[in-house]
Amino acid sequence: MLERKASTIMLAIFAILGIGISVSYFQGFGDQPLLQTAAIHAHTARSVIFNAPYNLVQRVVGIRQQSDMDKYIATERAIARAGVLTNIGPDGKKASGAHAGVVVASPSTSDPDYFYTWTRDSALVFKMLVDEYLYNGETSLKSHIDDYVAAQQILQRVSNPSGNYQNGGLGEPKFHVNLTAFTDPWGRPQRDGPALRATTLIAYGKSLIKSDRSYVKQTIWPVVKADLRYVADYWNKTGFDLWEEVSSRSFFTTAVQHRALREGSAFASAIGETADLQQYNEQADNALCFLQSYWNPDQGYMTSNTGGSRSGIDANSVLASIHTFDPPAGCDSITFQPCSDKALSSLKVYVDSFRSVYPINSGIPENVAVATGRYKEDVYYGGNPWYLTTFAVTEQLYNSVIVWKRQKYLEITPISLSFFKQLMPDAKIGRYDASTDVFTTVLSAVTHFADSFILVNAKYTPTDGSLAEQYNRTTGLPESAKDLTWSYASAITAFKARDGFVPASWGAAGLKVRTGSDGQCVANPGPTSWVDFRIKVDVNANEHVFLAGSVEELMSWNADEAVALSRDDASTWSVNVKVPADTMIQYKYIRKDSAGKVTWEADPNHQTLSPVEGESTVVTDNWQG
Ligand code: NOJ
Ligand code: NOJ
Repeated sequence: MLERKASTIMLAIFAILGIGISVSYFQGFGDQPLLQTAAIHAHTARSVIFNAPYNLVQRVVGIRQQSDMDKYIATERAIARAGVLTNIGPDGKKASGAHAGVVVASPSTSDPDYFYTWTRDSALVFKMLVDEYLYNGETSLKSHIDDYVAAQQILQRVSNPSGNYQNGGLGEPKFHVNLTAFTDPWGRPQRDGPALRATTLIAYGKSLIKSDRSYVKQTIWPVVKADLRYVADYWNKTGFDLWEEVSSRSFFTTAVQHRALREGSAFASAIGETADLQQYNEQADNALCFLQSYWNPDQGYMTSNTGGSRSGIDANSVLASIHTFDPPAGCDSITFQPCSDKALSSLKVYVDSFRSVYPINSGIPENVAVATGRYKEDVYYGGNPWYLTTFAVTEQLYNSVIVWKRQKYLEITPISLSFFKQLMPDAKIGRYDASTDVFTTVLSAVTHFADSFILVNAKYTPTDGSLAEQYNRTTGLPESAKDLTWSYASAITAFKARDGFVPASWGAAGLKVRTGSDGQCVANPGPTSWVDFRIKVDVNANEHVFLAGSVEELMSWNADEAVALSRDDASTWSVNVKVPADTMIQYKYIRKDSAGKVTWEADPNHQTLSPVEGESTVVTDNWQG
C-alpha cells in the first residue's frame, strides 16, 4: 500500500517535472530510499551519506542515489583492491609468513581462524587480478600472478589428507600459508578448487601464448594439465560443496568443472598439447549432461546439492552463473548463463528466500534489494548475510544487462516470467527487440535493481570500508572473518560488471547436451577399479548367495536387486565387481532361497577400501551368522 502511494506521488511529481519514465523504473529503484532509511545502524553505516534523510525531490530525481553509488564505488574499489593485495604473501601487510603468491583467506587468526590458504578463494581472487591485469594492462600485478603460478606448482605436489599429486591430493581444500599440509579434520575433498585454478591459469596463459610460449608450455601448462586430469578423473565423484559442509555432488562444482574442461581442451590444442584432448571433451560432455539434472522444474531453481537436507536454494547457483559467464553464449540455459531463464528464475527464488529470514530485511518490498547470504538454513556465525553473495547478485544482474545490450533483444519465457514480473508487473512472455519499450524498461529496472544490491552492502559497510565475511542479520554489524579477501574480490568483480566489463569467452556458445541411445544423459562413472568378493558359507540346497552394499554397483543395499555370486566350490562363492576407485565400501552378503526368503548377514557391515583406478583386489569374508 505504502509503496503504491509513494509511487503515485513520485509519478505525479515526474509529470510536473516533465520527466518521462516508466512505472517499473520506480518499482525497481524508487523505493530504495525507504530501504536506506529503515533500520539505520549508526555504527555500521559507511558514512553520513547513507543515513541522511532524503527529501522528496532528491528521491524523485534519483540524483542522490547516483552520487551515493558513485562515491561508494570509487572509495570501495580502492579499498577492496588494497584489501586484496594486503592479504597476499610475501609482502602483503596482513599476510606475514605467507609464501609468495599465496592468498591468505583472511588475516583473522581466531574466531574464526582463517589464516590459511584455500584453493577456491585463491583461484577466484587471482582470476579477478588476472582480468585486471589483462584489461587495464596493469603490469604491477604481473609479479603477483607469476608468484601465484609458482606457488600452485608447489602446492599441487604437497601430500595431504586428500591424497598426493598422482592420486586425489589436488582436491584438498586448504593449506597452511607456508605451503605445508593442513592435517586436522576438515570437509575434504572439495573438487571445485582444481577447476577454478585451471580457469585462472588458462586466462593468464592464453594471454602469453605469443609473447612467452616457453613459459606457458613449461610452467603454466603442467599445472593446468594436472588440474584438468584431476577434473576429468574425479568430477563425477562426490565431494564437499563450496561451503565445506555437504558431501554430495554440487551444482557450482559441476558447473566450474565443465567450464575448466571446455577451455582446457581449447587451451591445450592452442599450445599443441593434444594428448588428452579427447578425454577432456568426453568428460566435458558428460559433465554438461549431468549439470542439467540439478534443475528443480516445479519450483524453478537449481538445487545446489544432491545431498544434505536443505531446500537447495543457495548462493551456489548465483556464483555458478557469474563464474561461468560467457557473453557469446547469450542467454543459454544449458550452461546456465546469467541471463538465462533458469538462472534468472533461480536468482529470484534465492533472493526472496532471505526476505523473511533476516530482520534487517524486514519490511522491504518484494521488488527491492535485500541482503543475501549462503542459504537460508545457514547457522554458521548465526547465519547471516554475506558481502560476497550480495555482490554476486549485482554481478549476475549486470552480466545479464551486458548480454541483452550485446544481442539487442531479451526474452521472457514461462520460466523467467516471475523474475521479470517482480520488476514489471505486467510483463508478458515474448521476445523484445532493443527498439521496444519493454526492452528499455526492463534494462532500466534491472540496472537499478542491480545497483540497489550494492547499496545494501554499502549500508552495512563500516566507515573504514573494510569487508568482513558476513554482517549480522539483526544489527548489520560485521561478523566472522575480517578483511575477507574473497569479499574484496567480489566487490571489484561486481563493480566491473557494472562498468560493462566483458570477460574472455570459454567456449559455452552453441553447446548441446549429449544424449545416449535411449535419449538419456550418460554420466561418467568416474575412475573405477575391481573388487573380487569371496565368501565362505555353507548354504541349504535351495539357497543362493548375493551381495548388496553402499555403492550403486552393489545396488545401494537393495536386497531385491542384489548382485548374484557364483559358486566356486562346496562352500565358496564369489563375484568380481567394478566399483568406484579409492572408495570406502560397506557391504553384506545375503542368502535367498527358492521360496524367496531373504537372510541377511548379522551386523556389523563388512567394509573395504576399493583399490585405486584400474587396480583389482580380492577380499575374503566368512559369513557372519
Ligand atoms: C568452516 C567452513 O569454512 C564453513 O563454511 C562452515 O560453514 C563452517 N566450518 C561450519 O561447518
Ligand atoms: C568458508 C566458506 O564457506 C568457504 O567457501 C571459504 O572457502 C572459506 N570460508 C575461506 O574463506
